[in-house]
Amino acid sequence: LFQSFVMQRPQMGQVLGVPLDQNICDAWNDIWNFRAHPEDVLLASYPKAGITWMQEVVDMIYQEGDTNKCLRAPTYDRHPFLEAVPPKPVPSGLQLAEEMEPPRVLKTHLPIQLIPPSFWKQNCKVIYVARNAKDTLVSYFHFQRMTKGLPDPGTWDDYFMAFLSGTLPWGSWFDHVNGWWKAKDKHRVLYVFYEDMKKDLRLEIQRVESFLDKDLPEEVLEKICQHTTFQAMKENPMANYTTMPTTVMDQSVSPFMRKGIVGDWKNHFLVAQNELFDWEYKRRMDGTGLDFCTQI
Ligand code: A3P
Repeated sequence: LFQSFVMQRPQMGQVLGVPLDQNICDAWNDIWNFRAHPEDVLLASYPKAGITWMQEVVDMIYQEGDTNKCLRAPTYDRHPFLEAVPPKPVPSGLQLAEEMEPPRVLKTHLPIQLIPPSFWKQNCKVIYVARNAKDTLVSYFHFQRMTKGLPDPGTWDDYFMAFLSGTLPWGSWFDHVNGWWKAKDKHRVLYVFYEDMKKDLRLEIQRVESFLDKDLPEEVLEKICQHTTFQAMKENPMANYTTMPTTVMDQSVSPFMRKGIVGDWKNHFLVAQNELFDWEYKRRMDGTGLDFCTQI
């Protein structure tokens, strides 16, 4: 369906001070009033924290390691992106979700305060993926260069400042990771770090598995590990977004499965930028109890 039009980069608006695609703002009433089912599982993250990776892990757990079932459709059709409002005739996240039978696995980038209240009323489980700020910033920059679904990122220097000021789509990384960190004491939220998945994927998969009340045999766990390595996902057309036409995502500009490492920020941050970043980071993160790792 994406083939049928020329994609224009979106205008931005705001919902309660959070910068979002104007189309999301226009549909906000419906998004906010989304009706969750108690069996729904929500996968949440700030953009570029590794949600696609988590989606593949969770799908493999639900399909009990049946890779063929996980190849049934691209990531974005298997798990509706709750707030997505693509140009017509591509169905919105809400439309896709409504066509699906619970238990559904849904994806969102919304900060905690914008999550539709029905998820809390239904006591739904949420898996939140967090990635260190520096690598998230680098990954987001390259992503905005390649996708027409988001505004043009401009220069690296401007983008760097926009990240620190919280003016990028979905707002401030600081507010996002901290808001969700606090939420885990109130709601059924499993907080997972991208860096932990890089360090010990098997262990993190086991944490997700037990959070979802599943108990899979050893050989299935092994299959999930193999199917969700960076290399396997980079080569998997149902996970690597190559099913999107190049008019929407131009992977010759930057591939969706770009590097998949911890510490690529070192190849991008200038010394002065790193100092400024560390200063602002300390100001925003000291005392939050949230610790990220920026190298392995
Ligand atoms: P890079 O741009 O740093 O390579 P999201 O899915 O939230 O949009 O995040 C995308 C980021 O996660 C990209 O980071 C992508 O390469 C990385 N990623 C996706 N699958 C991965 C995997 N299996 N292992 C490691 N990183 C992965």
